[in-house]
Amino acid sequence: MDITKDIVYIGVDDKAIDLFEGQYDVPNGMCYNSYVILDEKIAVLDTVDKSFTDEWLEKLDKALCGRKPDYLIVHHMEPDHSGALKEAMAKYPEMKIVSSAGAFPMMKAFCKNDYADRKVLVKEGDELSLGAHKLSFIAAPMVHWPEVIFSYDHTDKVLFSADAFGKFGTIGTDEEWACEAARYYFGIVGKFGMQVQNVLKKAAALDIKTICPLHGPVLTGDLSEYFTLYDMWSKYEPDKNGVAIFYTSVYGHTGRAAELLKDELEAMGCKAALNDLARCDMAEAVEDAFRYGRIVLATTTYNGDIFPFMKTFINTLTEHNFCNRKVGLIENGAWAPVAANIMKKMLEGAKGIEYTENSVKIKGDLTQENIDQIKALAKEMA
Ligand code: FEO
Repeated sequence: MDITKDIVYIGVDDKAIDLFEGQYDVPNGMCYNSYVILDEKIAVLDTVDKSFTDEWLEKLDKALCGRKPDYLIVHHMEPDHSGALKEAMAKYPEMKIVSSAGAFPMMKAFCKNDYADRKVLVKEGDELSLGAHKLSFIAAPMVHWPEVIFSYDHTDKVLFSADAFGKFGTIGTDEEWACEAARYYFGIVGKFGMQVQNVLKKAAALDIKTICPLHGPVLTGDLSEYFTLYDMWSKYEPDKNGVAIFYTSVYGHTGRAAELLKDELEAMGCKAALNDLARCDMAEAVEDAFRYGRIVLATTTYNGDIFPFMKTFINTLTEHNFCNRKVGLIENGAWAPVAANIMKKMLEGAKGIEYTENSVKIKGDLTQENIDQIKALAKEMA
């Protein structure tokens, strides 16, 4: 696949993977993107996951048409992109390796070699000329590891954005970009909103026609949607209207309360997204919590604490810098309900959390009073 006249895609599709990074369900697989810029000098941009080394080297060989690469540019050292680095460096002994100061100690750690005699160290603003193509490097620390750099090709106006703007799914997966890009973003990069903001400001000064991320499709055409969503997500601003409800339920009563709340909201014309935390994909639930501005948490008291799936969920949110949301609480407990207080305590460190005036306390099955409380909560939330 040609990205431009001189830029060729040599990434691979992973259709066999079950969990990306050991935790994310990827029903449409995953791709590890890699590119080659063919000019007077040739640059290879990143490698792929180790299990695809042979396939990738074959694609690289084909793209080179008998020539030898001069540079391997490493934007990110995570093994899904550096898995074939060692083999590539061995196959092309003249090739130099271009990366940030933070990347070389990682090479030593992952590849047992930091290529000291072949190293070209680059930092923010440095340039690399390949002939007609001139690349500028942009520091992008913590998007998603500390050593990350982006590069920008001034000639073809292409931004190589490392993990940023990536998504789950193989390269050719035909689906809406935003949904799987959001699940990817909030799970993997979401904690580092401030750092994403910093790099977006630098990108705003560039004339970008194409974004080449390390995962997901190459983005072309009108890029404003991608930049707008990344701007909102990294500022922790909701991009969806409505209320997201998250619940756990042991015997169905708390679940019924959550469903009743959803029905009440929808009857008022308010969109409601319902997530049963014991059954849904946790990363999808995390995505919803960040994409909606108003959320409701409903759970039971359990072993003097809260139900385990809700505990994991709230911990995951706070780990990812969850903030600036309106939150409603529904608790259930037959003899000593403490769930609402525990959920509040868990969210104590989250900035900008505003609680609703209405809440719901159930002691077993729903009473008429509970139904009235749910209606009042729905009215306040809608
Ligand atoms: Fe796709 Fe952070 O690696």
